[in-house]
Amino acid sequence: MAHRIAVIAGDGIGTEVMPEGIRALEVAAKRFKIDLAFTTFEFGSCDYYLEHSKMLPDDWFDQLKDFDALFYGAVGWPDKVPDHISLWGSLLQFRRQFDQYINLRPCKLMPGIKSPLAGREPGDIDFYVVRENTEGEYSSVGGKMFEGTEREIVLQETVMSRVGVDRVLKYAFDLAQTRPRKKLTSATKSNGISITMPYWDERVAEMAKHYPEIAVDKFHIDILTANFVLHPDWFDVVVGSNLFGDILSDLGPACTGTIGIAPSANINPEGKFPSLFEPVHGSAPDIAGKGIANPIGQIWSGAMMLEHLGYKEAADAMVTAIEEVLSEGNRQVLTRDVGGQGSTVSLGQAIAERIGG
Ligand code: NAI
Ligand code: MG
Repeated sequence: MAHRIAVIAGDGIGTEVMPEGIRALEVAAKRFKIDLAFTTFEFGSCDYYLEHSKMLPDDWFDQLKDFDALFYGAVGWPDKVPDHISLWGSLLQFRRQFDQYINLRPCKLMPGIKSPLAGREPGDIDFYVVRENTEGEYSSVGGKMFEGTEREIVLQETVMSRVGVDRVLKYAFDLAQTRPRKKLTSATKSNGISITMPYWDERVAEMAKHYPEIAVDKFHIDILTANFVLHPDWFDVVVGSNLFGDILSDLGPACTGTIGIAPSANINPEGKFPSLFEPVHGSAPDIAGKGIANPIGQIWSGAMMLEHLGYKEAADAMVTAIEEVLSEGNRQVLTRDVGGQGSTVSLGQAIAERIGG
């Protein structure tokens, strides 16, 4: 049976890199005999907003809920629609309503990409950041009192539930289990945040009992960020609460070079709802319309989607194709952000050809 994929290109370079993402997926699907059926939606973009005064139609949930995955480009065009409206009205709705409680980002230094960390080579940096995506520090529990007076008080609570913490930890441990190094690092701050973070540590220790073959360590978030820069080779799977994961999931990919290649996934592991796959970058208004955006973030997100759907071999072939094209370093093919003179299409085509075998 076909896997039904909802395609939402969004804004700016989202509309330019999406066709290359689909091209790569179609080639992989053909080679590995995977049946993919793409359905394109116009909503979730600022142009849709300008026409309809909302980012999504009222029945978006029902329109999308039975898809096997959502493949997103990028959303946002601040000159037309304020970012809080475009992002809250689209992407953040999907993440919440589809209970995509895992945010997953690979941090892998690719061949031909210069790391901002001196002396690092491919192989030195290869880890995942797993971020809790639904609760923690990003709760709306709290309030203001005595507003505008000397006694003004603001309060915002961190919410950690056993269900919420355990499910992200379980996902991270399971992921570590599939990796050769079998190592898990927990981000904490139990020396300063004295209730929720010791609780997080407690749940990590509890979960670790079920995974005796995984080597577990933990760092306070402050020194952990330093170690991402100083010793990125120490890490394999890093798991954090919503806030700590947010910070680490930007810092990790930044250590591996250009934003144009980093992929991400927002996952509902039980498959009760579709998961969402998207490049880390945004709509890049500064280069939109020029045909020079790097399509690798989109293509690699497609690889993550295939892996999620159960096709690890096909996903690996896509990532290998990306690595090969990057390491060949053909300047006519590569986009400018990675030192070439080529276009979105030339790079997308080269990768697709390589995926074809
Ligand atoms: P951005 O990621 O769009 O761009 C940052 C810089 O990186 C720009 O100089 C851009 O040219 C460059 N860049 C990004 N992707 C690239 C690619 N594929 N190839 C080559 N260069 C690339 O972030 P920015 O400028 O802060 O945000 C622009 C819009 O995107 C805003 O509306 C923002 O809200 C939205 N946004 C959406 C995201 C999403 O859809 N998940 C994520 C981040 C931002
Ligand atoms: Mg962030």
